[in-house]
Amino acid sequence: MKKITGFLLVAFLAARINAQTQIPIPPLVEGTNFNLIPQTGLAEIYPGVQTHTMGYNGAILGPTLLLEKGETVAINVHNQLGDTTTTHWHGLHVSPSNDGSPHTPIMEGDTWAPVFEVMDNAATYWYHPHLHGKTLSQVVKGMAGFIIVRDAVESALVLPRTYGVDDVPLVFQWKTFNASKQIVETDEQDNEVLVNGVLRGSALNLPAQVVRLRLLNGSSHRYFDFGFANSLAFKQIAGDGGLLDAPVSMTKLILGPGERAEILVDLTGKEGQTLTFRQFGSQLPQGYPGGMMMMMGGNNMMGPLDDTDFDLMSIHVTAPTANAVTAIPSTLVANTPYSQAGAIPRSFGMTAQPMMSMTNFFINGLKFDMETINFEAELGKTEVWTLTNSTMMAHPFHVHGLSFYVISVNGAAPPLNLKGRKDVVTVPPMQGQVKIVVRFEDFADPEMPYMYHCHILSHEDTGMMGQFLVTSSSSSTTELEPSSTCPICIDDLPLPKGIELSKVVRIEVFNLGGRLMRALEAELVNGASIDVSDLPTGGYMMKMSDATGKTVAVQRFFKN
Ligand code: C2O
Ligand code: CU
Ligand code: CU
Repeated sequence: MKKITGFLLVAFLAARINAQTQIPIPPLVEGTNFNLIPQTGLAEIYPGVQTHTMGYNGAILGPTLLLEKGETVAINVHNQLGDTTTTHWHGLHVSPSNDGSPHTPIMEGDTWAPVFEVMDNAATYWYHPHLHGKTLSQVVKGMAGFIIVRDAVESALVLPRTYGVDDVPLVFQWKTFNASKQIVETDEQDNEVLVNGVLRGSALNLPAQVVRLRLLNGSSHRYFDFGFANSLAFKQIAGDGGLLDAPVSMTKLILGPGERAEILVDLTGKEGQTLTFRQFGSQLPQGYPGGMMMMMGGNNMMGPLDDTDFDLMSIHVTAPTANAVTAIPSTLVANTPYSQAGAIPRSFGMTAQPMMSMTNFFINGLKFDMETINFEAELGKTEVWTLTNSTMMAHPFHVHGLSFYVISVNGAAPPLNLKGRKDVVTVPPMQGQVKIVVRFEDFADPEMPYMYHCHILSHEDTGMMGQFLVTSSSSSTTELEPSSTCPICIDDLPLPKGIELSKVVRIEVFNLGGRLMRALEAELVNGASIDVSDLPTGGYMMKMSDATGKTVAVQRFFKN
């Protein structure tokens, strides 16, 4: 009798061990043409339970898009979500019309087809929905994916870059599940954390060599203070928008919603060991969501896992691979922050109403309004932004369309790991102040704005957001006045450098919402024309592709 019990116990334990979920790696897609399909789905996040989710090309999260700096990419976002959405390329320097902001809704069944040149430095970016008022609900249901940009500078360094083997993207997301394990579209009392869409405490195999983890805080609200159980040191090599000057040695790393960091962990000689990667919520500064919140007033908005430490994942160290990276470079890239000389100052004040409120936030006293442009910036100019937080909690401030440099945090030079290019920065609570230097390059648009906002999605959805135009005295888009004889002649357009006209077999004209307005099969050498005379006044994009469907050129124009 005793024997049988013992056997059953062993079998039960074995089942539990085998049941440790492996952390999935999102599929990688490369090239210059991408298809994303926002959709609903069912995911088995808790054993035996079907949770209703949303994702791109699958039930939850989305594929990792691998982009090469300098390439022109065409992305088709075909919305099958059963609801309107937008797709924002968080961190990428693209024109306002390609940015996927709240002004570029994709209706159910429609396809949005942005085309843009990848101008960003090698780093980890991401994509997610940005429909005003619905960003939180679509993101927490599972819509988010990685974008990895590579460039020549990064490629010349000896760094791990075998996707899913020694170079692993990991998105950490706080969520709220109800008693029946469905995702609740709110973020005030988050009670669970998912890693790449599976429950915290799952397992990841990594080889016994230098590995690179691309960490994304894809949460709607809360911070992480990452670290290893045994205080194992790691090196941060990149922040949001690019490599740092040199690897920064650390044992703890704080990331706010929307922020990314790439870290190197040296697992050399650790084959067979198990390491534990953890959240150290008890060590977050006070007022950072996920840690200890300010205690004044009634509801302090703490969730059940806040201010606590817990395991995020187990790392099982396996045999090293062939050609393993075994050393960490001592220097990376030279970051040169924009000069502040002659920069235009601009202030952003974050406030709450009433003062102690933990839910009702404003920027410069205003709530976001789709119809209001909060300011205009001039193309080519540099500005120094002073961000002041007069509320009781930290806010991760994000700007679209550019990367910035942090000049100071509470009057002091930023820590080394914040010294690279960034697009999200935390403004500490209780009169915390951050200064950043921004520059408006390449893209002016007389109508379509860029957003700036708090990346806590409930704050953003309820209006802690603003928008600005980048304008140019000498407009960077060609103004065309179609004549009756030649509605829009190819000869009228300043064609991009290096374009091989003989290869172009198809011309398409899109409006700024990405809707195809005109298509023409063309033999360009003989001078083609495309009739746009009946199109409404506004900005358009003309895309030229070759026989294989590859985009060879993109030209913006403004139709008077
Ligand atoms: Cu990550 Cu305005 O977005
Ligand atoms: Cu963004
Ligand atoms: Cu906020």
